[in-house]
Amino acid sequence: MRSQRQATAGRGRWRVGATAWWCWAAVVLGHLLTCARAGLLETNPGLAYNFYAKTCPNLDNIVRTVTWQQVAANPALAGRLLRLHFHDCFVNGCDASILLDVAQSEKTAGPNLSVGGYEVIDAIKTQLEQTCPGVVSCADIVALAARDAAVSYQFKASLWQVETGRRDGTVSLASNTGALPSPFAGFNGLLTSFSNRGLNLTDLVALSGAHTIGVASCSSVTPRLYQGNATAVDPLLNAAYAKTLMNTCPNPSPAGSTVNLDGGTPVKFDSSYFVNLQKNQGTLASDAALMQNAAAAQMVQDLTNPIKFYAAFSMSMKKMGRVDVLTGTKGQIRKQCRQVGS
Ligand code: HEM
Repeated sequence: MRSQRQATAGRGRWRVGATAWWCWAAVVLGHLLTCARAGLLETNPGLAYNFYAKTCPNLDNIVRTVTWQQVAANPALAGRLLRLHFHDCFVNGCDASILLDVAQSEKTAGPNLSVGGYEVIDAIKTQLEQTCPGVVSCADIVALAARDAAVSYQFKASLWQVETGRRDGTVSLASNTGALPSPFAGFNGLLTSFSNRGLNLTDLVALSGAHTIGVASCSSVTPRLYQGNATAVDPLLNAAYAKTLMNTCPNPSPAGSTVNLDGGTPVKFDSSYFVNLQKNQGTLASDAALMQNAAAAQMVQDLTNPIKFYAAFSMSMKKMGRVDVLTGTKGQIRKQCRQVGS
């Protein structure tokens, strides 16, 4: 009986492993084809694969182990760590400035008040300082943890290799966070935010797919549902889905209440976000805005295919990870991610 159970469990494990392997191979192939088509594999600004091969060979293992342990204990961290990397890169580039605890820092700005995952970065950094002191930047930890928390954890495989070699910035100002796109932005506003960071329409659509996991504060959604005391639902919102959102986010909503960004499969990193958009079930106004442009809507259609989504997301994450990075002798390597020059 016991050995039969073990055999069944073993077959189950193999099936999962085979699926993950097949998925991974398809993504790598799709990724290479997409890169070739776009004339990419563009020069990166001083980053490299395995930048720490000699100085911290165990880096990937340490980041993955700590991140997976923490996400297993608290699944909400998957979305938090992915968003942390995005909010780091869009303000001053991917330089870990979002982590700094200084007066009027980025962290204190409105759009960052619901950002989290800082304690995971601290835990990883603590371990790294024991193994390879003063070597690995906080900005690289943020980039690695984003992938491992949101994507590698689910697939038990890394869908893309994170380029490393970023260094940490020393400036963190709430007043710089205007570079972050607003959830109430229309299509043109979103595209402008992205192009200001060197990212294009494809990146905007692919990266918005991050909203296949995680939550939004009700306050990010209620303006779509209620205006003043009257009920005036955003016409871009499916009526039945609007009712679901209203149940989760009444008017007024209790402080701190949240709603899933992907109403169907909120903790799965899959392509259902794009299927939702086609049904007018995007949770944020900025999600719905993607359907208001013909080229973006066509991309949404393409990315309902999970293999295409994983390939496009991987490529755009690498691009986002290169935004205004500090490399070479610029910036610093912090020992404590929350403090400049520590
Ligand atoms: C296209 C422009 C974007 C806008 C306007 C936007 C806006 C938002 C907003 C308002 C929230 C909810 C915050 C709250 O109310 O508490 C959110 C959550 C989230 N965003 Fe975005 N976002 C955008 C793009 C991205 C990108 C590029 C990524 C990552 C690659 C990302 C990853 C996430 C994740 C994972 C969450 C859930 C966080 C959690 O569960 O704690 N977003 N986003």
